[in-house]
Amino acid sequence: MAVIEIIGGQWGDEGKGKIVELMARKADLVVRFSGGSNAGHTVINQYGTFGLHLVPSGIFYSGVKCLLGNGVVVDPAILIQEMESLNSRGISTSNLFISERAHLVMPYHLLLDGLEEEARGAGAIGTTRRGIGPAFVDKTARQGIRVADLLDKKVFFRRLSQVMQLKNVILTKVYGAQPLSVDEVYKQYLSYARTLAPHITDTQRLVDEALERKDFILLEGAQGTLLDPDFGTYPYVTSSSPMAGGGCQGSGIGPKRIDRIIGIFKAYNTRVGSGAMPTELDDETGELIREIAHEFGTTTGRPRRCGWFDAVAGAFSVRINSFTGLAITRLDVLDALPQIKICTGYHLDGKLVRGFPTQLTTLEKCQPVYEEMPGWLTPTSDIRRYRDLPLAARRYLRKMEELLSCPVDIVSVGARREETIIIKPIP
Ligand code: IMP
Repeated sequence: MAVIEIIGGQWGDEGKGKIVELMARKADLVVRFSGGSNAGHTVINQYGTFGLHLVPSGIFYSGVKCLLGNGVVVDPAILIQEMESLNSRGISTSNLFISERAHLVMPYHLLLDGLEEEARGAGAIGTTRRGIGPAFVDKTARQGIRVADLLDKKVFFRRLSQVMQLKNVILTKVYGAQPLSVDEVYKQYLSYARTLAPHITDTQRLVDEALERKDFILLEGAQGTLLDPDFGTYPYVTSSSPMAGGGCQGSGIGPKRIDRIIGIFKAYNTRVGSGAMPTELDDETGELIREIAHEFGTTTGRPRRCGWFDAVAGAFSVRINSFTGLAITRLDVLDALPQIKICTGYHLDGKLVRGFPTQLTTLEKCQPVYEEMPGWLTPTSDIRRYRDLPLAARRYLRKMEELLSCPVDIVSVGARREETIIIKPIP
């Protein structure tokens, strides 16, 4: 059938969870491919409201296999908690599979995430403190522990002792913190292993078989393109690639197999954590958007910074991901605004720039250039067909298509699954 990637086009929290859950109805396989429990995907369906951190949003459909791919870092404590919470609400997790190649988030990663943030002082990144950065550092530094290691007690103990020797030196000598006990961590992780063992497998086999059968595969992105370590607002980024390329790497599916890459964008911009955001609104409108949209982090509860849609950053995101279509979410949030602005360029040192700068110091100096458009002041949540949207809303969406050079495939007008306008049919 098709392989579709669902990728965040902004700084995360674009509503990927809703779109994945909506599309997963027809999917055979849903694969999370990057990040870890730093993600927070909100799903609202007939079973209730769910804030998922690790489990893919396809879990609500009994016929869909959900994979945590090789590119994810897994905190077993959070995963087990999430699975138990789903089970207690009647959602089976028997179709959840964890890649043997995925790396584990360990207790020292959680400690180091906090200690490193504190040491950064005013330059703190504002991480979710879920140990994500330190876990990916270890993966790259070749001192990570993989899910497969958990399945062999001897291998796990040897590896853990070796790595923790170094970690305890860093904890005690660099940060003056207490060392961690190898025995305690060992016992704790073996108990996690007992719970997770039935779900651990070589997910590559499942992916290959699904490709062979031409199944419908959804790649579920986490975070957003502007948090990518290469292309995002470095150093205020996350530690794995949330982009379309990251989807291939983190799932073991080559680029030639991808049929559609859908970029998810909110109808405005938000950001949680530190780092430049040229269209941030530090005024009543920003506050209004935050209140209407309840823009508070799913993982940390932090208020999200809100601002107008940044089409400069958006067009950059479209180019570097090769998006084939856009899903514009939360259009209904703008229903109450009489005027809407869209950022079409930046003013930098008296000159107009349309490219997205590499350096944060440059981005910080960029002043947004806005085009003002009339709002529609009409509720849109009950609308199901594109042509029934108010003219001003259609003009706003057309403007996005024009500035981003990419067609809008889906418009989301509410949190619930049915509050969606499908323009380009899902396979
Ligand atoms: P980390 O991924 O926890 O290391 O955090 C690095 C940066 O990415 C911080 O600015 C976080 O706020 C941001 N971040 C990480 N995950 C998410 C997410 O799921 N949504 C939005 N921002 C995120």
